[in-house]
Amino acid sequence: MNPMNHINSANSDILSKIPSPCFVLEESWLERNMNVFAKLQAEAPVKVLLALKGFALFHCFPLLKNTLKGASASSLWEAQLAAEEFGKEVYVYSPAYRDEDLSAILDNASHLTFNSLSQWERFRAVVESAPSRPSVGLRINPQYSPVKTDLYNPCQPSSRLGVMPESLGETLPEGIEGFLSHNLCESDSYAMEITLSKIEHYFGRFLPQIKWLNLGGGHLVTSKEYNIDHAIKVLKEFHQRHPHLHLILEPGSAIAWQTGFLLSTVRDLIPTPDVTHAMLDVSFTAHMPDCLEMPYRPSVRGERQLEDGEKGYRLGGASCLAGDFLGDYAFAQDLSIGDRIIFEDMMHYTMVKSTMFNGVVHPSIGIINKDGTFTLWREFSYQDYRSRMG
Ligand SMILES: Cc1ncc(COP(=O)(O)O)c(C=O)c1O
Repeated sequence: MNPMNHINSANSDILSKIPSPCFVLEESWLERNMNVFAKLQAEAPVKVLLALKGFALFHCFPLLKNTLKGASASSLWEAQLAAEEFGKEVYVYSPAYRDEDLSAILDNASHLTFNSLSQWERFRAVVESAPSRPSVGLRINPQYSPVKTDLYNPCQPSSRLGVMPESLGETLPEGIEGFLSHNLCESDSYAMEITLSKIEHYFGRFLPQIKWLNLGGGHLVTSKEYNIDHAIKVLKEFHQRHPHLHLILEPGSAIAWQTGFLLSTVRDLIPTPDVTHAMLDVSFTAHMPDCLEMPYRPSVRGERQLEDGEKGYRLGGASCLAGDFLGDYAFAQDLSIGDRIIFEDMMHYTMVKSTMFNGVVHPSIGIINKDGTFTLWREFSYQDYRSRMG
């Protein structure tokens, strides 16, 4: 079969110029997402930050900066990248700060959130004497999450993430000006509405004492199913009840939702009685780990429904891990060696999580610009692999 048969015909010229494997961002799709966030911020009393943990492709930050008000970071390195490349407000939250990182974090953070009272007490003096003193917050645990997979549920029993209301007494420790609540994952506005009611229920007595409330990530505002008018209504009503509070969202997934793909190539075909293994030059465990961890089955461009009793293709990852495969898939035509396989929606939680396990070639990174041209931003080499070890 022709190597381009699995590719949108409109784009096949440009796709044939892209090296394999490659993460490919589509500028026009990112712009579409930014328009959604521009509407949300224009109509609701909320500001939106980019969570770098989900998407940190800084080459496209100039486009994001037109709309988003800053970035959120979960470590010193993310804070440095946010300050260097985003350059607006930098909200930092880490489950446990290291003593040796704190002064550099303070150089970059406009807002600094602690996961526990003990960390706040430990670092209070150094924060309060910092030349550019950030606004300090506490992560709270709202004791509600719609997330069914424990790996992604910060409100599971005995969670290590966020302070419980009973440990706070009646008044907040001096110096705390904000709360961060993160409990959603690819969730809708109705889950946000419940979250707000839980925050009012468990932490309502503290709300008059703080200035800002960061509702974390997991708001899938850019998905087709998201009811943005409902989100606007919910945020407005909450704000009417607590007009002094600045509201913040820090999504990662929703920023890069359906803005690009991972292009790969079939390097071998191994028929067995039950399935044919299509051996790819990408790895699920190394490049798309959420497929195995969540787990979920990504869409592949040009796939069709597998019929009852039909022998499908099992997409095999390039590492030696026995479970590094997904399947089974079917296509309009039989696969051949050299065919390109395109995994849709592979911008969020891929590049930020990828590894060089097995020394498997790391996908290059590039963009299809609005004018239809392709720009290659990054290629990886043996030196990148080697330099991680010494
Ligand atoms: C504290 C915090 N904020 C924001 C996010 C981003 O969430 P998402 O990418 O689901 O929008 C996460 C994700 O784990 C998080 O832990």
